[in-house]
Amino acid sequence: MGIVLIFIFFSLISSILPSYGFDSLDPNGKITITWDFMSDNDVTYDVRVSIHNFQLFRQIDLPGWKLKWAWKSDEVIWKMWGAEATEQGNCTRFSGEPPHCCLKEPTIVDLMPGAPYNIQTANCCRGGVLTSMTQDPTNSVAAFQMNFNKGTVYNPDGKMPENFTLGIPGYTCGKAIQVPATKYTKNGGRRWEQYLETWNVTCTYSQFRASPSPKCCVSLSAFYNSTIVPCPQCSCNCQGLPGAECVKYGETPPLLQLPHDTEQDLQPLVRCSQHMCPIRVHWHIKESYREYWRVKITITNLNFVKNYSQWNLVVVHPNLQSIEQIFSFNYKSLDQYGNINDTGMFWGVQYYNDMLLSNDHNGNAQSEVLLHKDKGIFNFKDGWAFPRRISFNGDECVMPPPDDYPRLPNSGHIATRRSFIVTFLSLIVLMMVV
Ligand SMILES: *[C@@H]1O[C@H](CO)[C@@H](O)[C@H](O)[C@H]1NC(C)=O
Ligand SMILES: *[C@@H]1O[C@H](CO)[C@@H](O)[C@H](O)[C@H]1NC(C)=O
Ligand SMILES: *[C@@H]1O[C@H](CO)[C@@H](O)[C@H](O)[C@H]1NC(C)=O
Ligand SMILES: *[C@@H]1O[C@H](CO)[C@@H](O)[C@H](O)[C@H]1NC(C)=O
Ligand SMILES: *[C@@H]1O[C@H](CO)[C@@H](O)[C@H](O)[C@H]1NC(C)=O
Ligand SMILES: *[C@@H]1O[C@H](CO)[C@@H](O)[C@H](O)[C@H]1NC(C)=O
Repeated sequence: MGIVLIFIFFSLISSILPSYGFDSLDPNGKITITWDFMSDNDVTYDVRVSIHNFQLFRQIDLPGWKLKWAWKSDEVIWKMWGAEATEQGNCTRFSGEPPHCCLKEPTIVDLMPGAPYNIQTANCCRGGVLTSMTQDPTNSVAAFQMNFNKGTVYNPDGKMPENFTLGIPGYTCGKAIQVPATKYTKNGGRRWEQYLETWNVTCTYSQFRASPSPKCCVSLSAFYNSTIVPCPQCSCNCQGLPGAECVKYGETPPLLQLPHDTEQDLQPLVRCSQHMCPIRVHWHIKESYREYWRVKITITNLNFVKNYSQWNLVVVHPNLQSIEQIFSFNYKSLDQYGNINDTGMFWGVQYYNDMLLSNDHNGNAQSEVLLHKDKGIFNFKDGWAFPRRISFNGDECVMPPPDDYPRLPNSGHIATRRSFIVTFLSLIVLMMVV
């Protein structure tokens, strides 16, 4: 009963919050677009644009960001380094060498790795991929430079364009705000110079806006019970519903048309299952020792059209405060609230299992985690040893209902004094939240 209420409490949190674009596991997560005005050349500006991913575990995967904005007047982009506009538009009003882009709403994409040296800039040319801050902070920023014509129509509200979008589902961007000008160091740190002006645009993510249906589910098992608790039925979709395509066991998927133009992120094409999720995470309580216990985590890619590179898993479990050893995965504790140390992030080891291959290549990744049995809190009863929440690449995974968790033999449904107290406490917490 207690665990049911705790579960309701967590599902309340996770069902209310995403619609406001707020992730309690990454409350400060955002992507910032910065325009640093480097020089004012009478009729043109030189600007350095950078995109910073300030999210702990959410990354921008292929096909990458596609930055778009709307000029307020008749600006045109003369030249660009480190990125390019996808279309030039109608530049017939200019004689001589035409501008790079004359569209009112240009769409800018990153260059691919190995672009000619003379059109590169620092932090460019990664095909639009931005890693998360935890996994690889050096690749969590992208940048390009451009020279553009000032608009000829006066704009009372500033020189910045508006209506920024990142071209990735789930993100919405606000208005450009002028911030203190970025400073940069000269002369080995002995002197600081600054840009003419700096403007920031902040973009936030909402899983609900990205896709109302989940993309991942969790199954559970334990050494003390032979039941394997599968992902809940229809976690991500229901077999047989219109549009719910899947590939049956023994069948080969239809000839896969992989995107050449990287225009669109492909809809998942999954292996048929009762949950229909592209990703399944299995949590197996493998062994119990005197001082320690061992969990095996298996992530399976059931999607035929995607290799997940640089994937990550965020797990909430109270025993993560005393992790002893982790095999085959990287790990970092995500301490958002200082004294609560129950959240951590796992990701693959480079060149070993950082790529979760598509289903026709048997894509899965496994790790074992050794945890210390903390006195006073450790317990195999009441499903305590199972995770509270799991997310894959920042998307919340659907958990089985706590009543179905593999139970210790003979533990039964006895309403003990302790579980009454737990129930009572959860009710109070619940009332404080609502
Ligand atoms: C503006 O964005 C930059 C990152 O590009 C960030 O370092 C800076 O703190 C932001 N400024 C404000 C005031 O938000
Ligand atoms: C930005 O979007 C709003 C709402 O769609 C629109 O009214 C406005 O004209 C757009 N701004 C520009 C410069 O196109
Ligand atoms: C391009 O713009 C010019 C005006 O600047 C216009 O006369 C011409 O018809 C346009 N061409 C096309 C193909 O839209
Ligand atoms: C995934 O990677 C494998 C092996 O590198 C490759 O053969 C396959 O085409 C890739 N699949 C996708 C969907 O990119
Ligand atoms: C949380 O865990 C990390 C690593 O496991 C440790 O370095 C840190 O001191 C812990 N913080 C608290 C408040 O227990
Ligand atoms: C294993 O767990 C299931 C699900 O909670 C339960 O129904 C079953 O009785 C348990 N088996 C044993 C041997 O305790």
